[in-house]
Amino acid sequence: MKKQILFVCLGNICRSPAAEGVFLNLIKKKGLEHKYFVDSAGTGGWHVGHKADARMIMAAEKRGINITSIARQISLDDLKIFDLILTMDNENLAAVNSLAREIDLKLLKKIKPLLSYSSKTSLSEVPDPYYGKNNGFEVVLDLLEDSCQGLLEELSAKV
Ligand code: 4NP
Repeated sequence: MKKQILFVCLGNICRSPAAEGVFLNLIKKKGLEHKYFVDSAGTGGWHVGHKADARMIMAAEKRGINITSIARQISLDDLKIFDLILTMDNENLAAVNSLAREIDLKLLKKIKPLLSYSSKTSLSEVPDPYYGKNNGFEVVLDLLEDSCQGLLEELSAKV
């Protein structure tokens, strides 16, 4: 059975689709695609059906990372289906935790901040780059590459 991993942010057009692309790129490079099913979702529904933000697609492309995800909103079923749900900031974490509480408190242990897997940063949240300057996308990608590497190392030690 593939391990099912869901990355979650607010709009599902910047941070979580990029995290999905970064993680997919990592497992592809290591020949581990058969071990993981990877997806992303937003806690909000404003961008449902949209491609990722063009600024994020371009910044990722420069690093050899392809972002193809189409935005969708997280559902209660996601909480049941996915093995691990990784949030970008405290607001997403609180929103997903509160969905889990609606179903079963046991689900809370599946939900973790992505940056808890980072080795390089003292930040606990991936900053939202949507309204910021272009450099924000590079900062986000640096954080995502580091934390996804840490995540894969931890999962590989278990799988
Ligand atoms: P994301 O960024 O949560 O990283 O996808 C955002 C995208 C859109 C909005 C907020 C954050 N928005 O308010 O429309």
